[in-house]
Amino acid sequence: MVKRAPAAPAVKVDRASFNYNNIKAVDKLSLEVPSGISFGLLGPNGAGKTTLIRLLVGLLKPKSGGIRILGETPSRKTAHLIGYMPQLHSLYTELSVMQNVDFFARVYRLSDKQQRARRVEEVIRLVDLWPRRKDSVLKLSGGMRQRVSLACAIVHNPPLLFLDEPTVGLDPELRFTFWEHFANLTKQGTTLIVSSHTMDDAAHCDRLAFMRSGKLIAQGTPTELRKATGKAEANLEDAFLYFIHREDKK
Ligand SMILES: Nc1ncnc2c1ncn2[C@@H]1O[C@H](COP(=O)(O)OP(=O)(O)OP(=O)(O)O)[C@@H](O)[C@H]1O
Ligand SMILES: [Mg+2]
Repeated sequence: MVKRAPAAPAVKVDRASFNYNNIKAVDKLSLEVPSGISFGLLGPNGAGKTTLIRLLVGLLKPKSGGIRILGETPSRKTAHLIGYMPQLHSLYTELSVMQNVDFFARVYRLSDKQQRARRVEEVIRLVDLWPRRKDSVLKLSGGMRQRVSLACAIVHNPPLLFLDEPTVGLDPELRFTFWEHFANLTKQGTTLIVSSHTMDDAAHCDRLAFMRSGKLIAQGTPTELRKATGKAEANLEDAFLYFIHREDKK
């Protein structure tokens, strides 16, 4: 019987650092994320979440340390393996919903015209914007733009998806719908790396990392992190504060 090599982890970061001049945004950070799970990255403003995601998608290069996604160094060659929903929308506001999604589909080289049209329709329907497909993004509300961004990030069915604060500004119902989409994606084998400030998002993740000042201060499942506080009634917010205090005492 042929033994298969174990699949590479979706993400492997080995003591990676990145600084903007004298600001250590990511500081000798190590992280491993297995394939097919939703992984939450939590931390206060300026913790380094966006910088870490930009390193993982290959938009920044680490000053030291190593980064691998699906076993490869992030580069142009790995771009088709990745979906990226940036914290600040990168939509073309004067173009319509459909033109935006189609643009990303072309960037990701969905070259067969019919297949591309089918997939564009599928993702626009998925985010429930089909009736608004001909509207320019300028005419959409913030939450609707967020849905267009998500559609653009997933149009090429990437195995690895980076979502930088995807649920900011969404109403509770839409937030719930987003998490339904995310759960469906992980069921299909997609790995999700999601940054957030809210413990509501955190509770949906299979695994979490708490981040502060460019470092990870704790990692585990939501249950493990809550249990670590030693208090049966602790929620994830309590767990986060517990690890922050523990770090401060070091
Ligand atoms: N382009 C930049 N130039 C200089 N400093 C930057 C730049 N981008 C980020 N920083 C700094 O790097 C640190 C980490 O920022 P980053 O945006 O990664 O944090 P974050 O965790 O995503 O924060 P937020 O929750 O506010 O989005 C901060 O101190 C920030 O001021
Ligand atoms: Mg950020």
